[in-house]
Amino acid sequence: MVAGPPPAKSPADFVWGVSTSSYQIEGAANEDGRGPSIWDVYCRQSGRIANGDTGDVACDHYHRYAEDIGLMRNLGVDAYRFSVSWPRIMPTGRGAANEAGLAFYDRLIDALIAADIEPWLCLYHWDLPQALHERGGWTNRDCAQWFADYAALVGRRYGDRVKRYATFNEPSVFTLFGYCLGGSAPGISDHAMLLRAIHHVNLAHGAAVDRLRASVTDASLGAIHNCQPCRPAGGDPRDLLAAQKLDAYWNGAFPDPQLLGSYPPLLAEVMAPYQQPDDLTHIRRPVDWFGLNHYSPHYVTADAGNPLGVGFGPAPSNVPRSAMGWPVEPDAFRETLIGIHRRYRLPVYVLENGTANHDAIDAAGVVSDEPRIAYLRAYTAAMFEAIKAGADVRGYFVWSLLDNFEWGSGYSQRFGLVYVDYPTQRRIPKASFRWYARLIESSLELAAD
Ligand code: FCB
Repeated sequence: MVAGPPPAKSPADFVWGVSTSSYQIEGAANEDGRGPSIWDVYCRQSGRIANGDTGDVACDHYHRYAEDIGLMRNLGVDAYRFSVSWPRIMPTGRGAANEAGLAFYDRLIDALIAADIEPWLCLYHWDLPQALHERGGWTNRDCAQWFADYAALVGRRYGDRVKRYATFNEPSVFTLFGYCLGGSAPGISDHAMLLRAIHHVNLAHGAAVDRLRASVTDASLGAIHNCQPCRPAGGDPRDLLAAQKLDAYWNGAFPDPQLLGSYPPLLAEVMAPYQQPDDLTHIRRPVDWFGLNHYSPHYVTADAGNPLGVGFGPAPSNVPRSAMGWPVEPDAFRETLIGIHRRYRLPVYVLENGTANHDAIDAAGVVSDEPRIAYLRAYTAAMFEAIKAGADVRGYFVWSLLDNFEWGSGYSQRFGLVYVDYPTQRRIPKASFRWYARLIESSLELAAD
């Protein structure tokens, strides 16, 4: 089944895209001088990842990028958001660059441009070089400068061809789960470490923005935030307090200082010990857009089992859920888009939206992922409603082009528009791939009218 035309006319310059990230698709973990990242180490710790999976091979995109760009061409996307693996181009995170790693992204970028697909480059999608973690990683204030040096290297190398840069993907997610709640590398569970990491990532963002502005002519810069409404899971007042707390950390701890120049009121006191005079000035650097990732709302409970005291409860029983168990609520997407527009007054690009589904190849070799089509149809409709209501949304990227390594879930969860048969690495476009291609095509026809 294909889509009808989108419910509202998109402007001709609306950007349709797909997103991926380095550790989740590249593989080639030990090739051409790549150094280890915290995820290589974390995946090897027993019990961390479903089925003991790792990103060692993933989708073998490092060798199959040309085929994957061919898929994007067939899809008709305007843009591709990928991330650079810091340890692939700087194996120990600092100092000498790795020419073979840099050359991989040259090949990728050149092939994208040749296919008329704009590269959107994200500097950090969670794969911190292990050598930096051993120096404290994000809990060390110096990490902001190490990151800025890495950003400058990337800007100098690719800035003639790449104009769109995101500093971080979902800083709230990798700091909360990596340093406090558990579930992500580096696997620390300590509230003070979380606070330090938050502040240093914010400093790194500001410093990287300055270095990219200096090294890339006509740079268009932003950061990518995961914003999800935080609702109390039950009527207990402690759930309400937990929801307010999670909201401050999840939705406010990064965009507020980066764009408004202050931490959310609930965090002001706890963040104070880590700040030096002028830090907030260095964090709040002008950017060009707000990158939004959104999947679902959170239903929050009070939970004494972790240092933050928050947990994730079930959605109300009438709310449908994806294969990940995430609530499917397009209205929350519409409200989030409108809220982000009002609060931050920047053009918004949706840089991740999509869903996991129990996909399988049928006897005819077809992957009929109707629940994904239904999800994408409802969520893009909600986005068009938000645009009608005044939200300045300029683009939409599906997560993800390919099924890939879904962090703690390993390969057990599939988010792709393209099915990956991991034993053979065969790519099979799903029904949703054709649906999305048709959506892009019909929006172009409408814009041309
Ligand atoms: C986001 C991550 C992305 C992917 C999707 C499903 O939080 O940015 O890497 O795992 O969720």
